[in-house]
Amino acid sequence: MRVLLTGGAGYIGAHTATVLAGRGHEIVLVDNFANAERDVPARLARLTGQAMTLIEADIRDTETLTAALRAHEVEAVIHFAALKAVGESEVDPLLYYDMNIIGTIRLLQAMRAANVGRIVFSSSATVYGQPDSAPVREDAPTRAENIYGRTKLVMEDLIRDLARTGPLRAAANLRYFNPVGAHPSAQIGEMPRGVPNNLMPYITQVATGLRPHLNVFGTDYPTADGTGVRDYIHVMDLAEAHALALEYIGAHDETLTLNLGTGTGISVLELVRAFERATGRPIPLHFAPRRPGDVASNYADPSLAARVLGWKARLNIEDMCRDAWRWQAAQAGINDI
Ligand code: UD1
Repeated sequence: MRVLLTGGAGYIGAHTATVLAGRGHEIVLVDNFANAERDVPARLARLTGQAMTLIEADIRDTETLTAALRAHEVEAVIHFAALKAVGESEVDPLLYYDMNIIGTIRLLQAMRAANVGRIVFSSSATVYGQPDSAPVREDAPTRAENIYGRTKLVMEDLIRDLARTGPLRAAANLRYFNPVGAHPSAQIGEMPRGVPNNLMPYITQVATGLRPHLNVFGTDYPTADGTGVRDYIHVMDLAEAHALALEYIGAHDETLTLNLGTGTGISVLELVRAFERATGRPIPLHFAPRRPGDVASNYADPSLAARVLGWKARLNIEDMCRDAWRWQAAQAGINDI
């Protein structure tokens, strides 16, 4: 298919582009480079052998998007572009409403104008807030516990409404659990700006010596070892699920909402030990109080994605640690891979 990726130079967008190219899809990347590196499109071209069209634009620019959708005869959009820092969203809600919600409305207007009726959307397990129990199924209650989470819920609703009322023929809302890892080539990966909020990039920066130790936020959770439990999923498995979802909605006029996780909960200490095993790098720890807003345990029931798409995560926690480290080590100029 001819597919346009908003946020196509970002972490999950770029990995998805490699898988789509490998499956013969033609890709148009749209990015405003607010949180992506400018050399990603060139790296993608080298990795995939496909010179992807790059359009530097903001998703709120309906005119540019409409023109791009028409000029490239795009058949479907995968919508990754969004702001995603929970803390920042609580400091500046209007920024998040504007970029995420207004941005999605502008994109949907462009799609309607260009008669593009298929969308895959980058949603998040954050829509479950503090889940009542885990594993979490797609029919669990959703709740917004911060502004970022609220924007993801609203974006999902906008897409479902347009699928119900006509402008969209087919849609897939993909709820990611905790994406980590990097492309096995170590040519693309996650590049957080400033101090990482998320666990895996923090660990890899401790391993390079950029940060002295990892703060383990909370050791008194009601989990096996007292630390928080999450469902980490390799970004390449996630990318493959996007390709399958795209192909599915290309063939069926349906609206899907799917969890993307492995179904296995891993604690902070288990992840640290897996990282040390996979890389041979020690991670010094400081035990710290709980981080406000964190849940004890959140992991997916991914069985619906298995049934509908025939998709299952294949890479394990050590694969995730190894690839995250290979990428970070390459960035830091460390040559021990
Ligand atoms: C966070 C966001 C979530 C977002 C997701 C993906 C919050 C409250 N939630 O999820 O909305 O969708 O990232 O971007 O920010 N941890 C440490 N030390 C650290 C960092 C994290 O111990 O330095 C622990 C956390 O307490 C948690 C686990 O590691 O138990 C995972 O944290 P993180 O990677 O930030 O992901 P989430 O909190 O699940």
